[in-house]
Amino acid sequence: MSKAKPARETGARPYKLPDIKPQTPVAALDRNRYADIATEFPLASVALAVGMSTTFIKKICGNRKTLDVAAVLALLDQDAYKETLVPRSKVIDHLLALEAAAQIKPKLLDVRDASLFHGHVLDQLKLIPRKSVQCVVTSTPYWGLRIYKESHPVSWADGEQSPYGHEQTPEGFVRHTMEILAALYEVLADDGSIWWNIMDSFNTRTQIRGNAAEALRAMQGKDGRSWSEHECRRYSAGHAYLKDGEQCLIPSMIAERASRMGFYVKSVITWAKTSTLPEPQTSRVSRNLEYVLHLSKTRTPKFNKDIYRTLPAAYGGRNTEHESDKLSDVWTLPTSSGRDGHGAQFPVALPARCIALSTDENDLVLDPFVGNGNSGVAARALKRRFVGIDVSEEYLAASKKRIAEAKPIKLPKE
Ligand SMILES: C[S@@+](CC[C@H](N)C(=O)[O-])C[C@H]1O[C@@H](n2cnc3c(N)ncnc32)[C@H](O)[C@@H]1O
Repeated sequence: MSKAKPARETGARPYKLPDIKPQTPVAALDRNRYADIATEFPLASVALAVGMSTTFIKKICGNRKTLDVAAVLALLDQDAYKETLVPRSKVIDHLLALEAAAQIKPKLLDVRDASLFHGHVLDQLKLIPRKSVQCVVTSTPYWGLRIYKESHPVSWADGEQSPYGHEQTPEGFVRHTMEILAALYEVLADDGSIWWNIMDSFNTRTQIRGNAAEALRAMQGKDGRSWSEHECRRYSAGHAYLKDGEQCLIPSMIAERASRMGFYVKSVITWAKTSTLPEPQTSRVSRNLEYVLHLSKTRTPKFNKDIYRTLPAAYGGRNTEHESDKLSDVWTLPTSSGRDGHGAQFPVALPARCIALSTDENDLVLDPFVGNGNSGVAARALKRRFVGIDVSEEYLAASKKRIAEAKPIKLPKE
């Protein structure tokens, strides 16, 4: 009897993605559930979960290194409280789960040379040595916009089980992003930088497609499938406040929460794209931008602003057609052709600019959503070491090939 081929080989998706229905759950904090718990929680973990600095918490709770349940409940009552990576009703469950997880000490990965790792980003980040990474540069899945080849549900601290980017609400997506950023904080060097490429989504009723080419075909009327024949749909009704057709403001939510979790938001950079898909909407302007959030752990991360003037444009230097001699927070860079079969790539020039600005030769660069490997190509061209993670073996194989073929360029100071 012939063995069934794995889904990857047949082209079928191994997991049926559910539709997205952004209905905000009705939930509230149940204080009585925690009455008998005597656990003390580290101040730093509490600070991250309640979105306040440790100094501010000390003003409320006194100068303590750990906090008990009563103190955490008091923080959840403060005007200054704001959700970060779990909703208010789950903060104490989250802190208890962290205490249990702290008992497990995994064997760490060897990241001395360029490496690619397969798996869910949160599982892999636990295996990367603390403070070993000088720069994280990545383009994450955007909320509710694309279906990736090997998308499957993963478990999150807020209790949701979903592929990243396929959450039922934008808030779920933002919480999961914050959980990933908290894990990245641990592996980032003290003078390191995170460059987080993100685009906003609109709360609309739409079919979710695999890539921009499919979306364009649909706009040109070349997709004959009916609403119900699509693999996956996104609805717009049922959210606590977002109305149909409204912009979700996801990048600003991520930036604010990153600040609340201890990062410095150094810049919110606009990536002005040189070409974008046509949009059918007639009641708003068309979108032409994405964002790159520059986050750091300290006020003065490693930063070499001058390199922008000397690098070739293809590797992050000035795009002379559109950019001035002054490196500003508007970057005009070409959109990726997407010819390599991955639906959502950034151009090599984007990660190359981030890497060149915030690392030296041989520093370690990490892309936790490596996709087709453009960040790895940039790192190799600039002679930096590179670690990439992706949940898709197919994308990793493409990445491996592209990174191996990339040639180091002659750097300006040579
Ligand atoms: C926007 S794409 C990255 C594209 C990449 N910057 C490039 O230029 O090719 C996002 C990637 O995240 C991967 N991904 C999605 N969920 C993931 C998870 N939980 N852990 C690791 N990778 C994941 C997808 O397979 C996809 O390749």
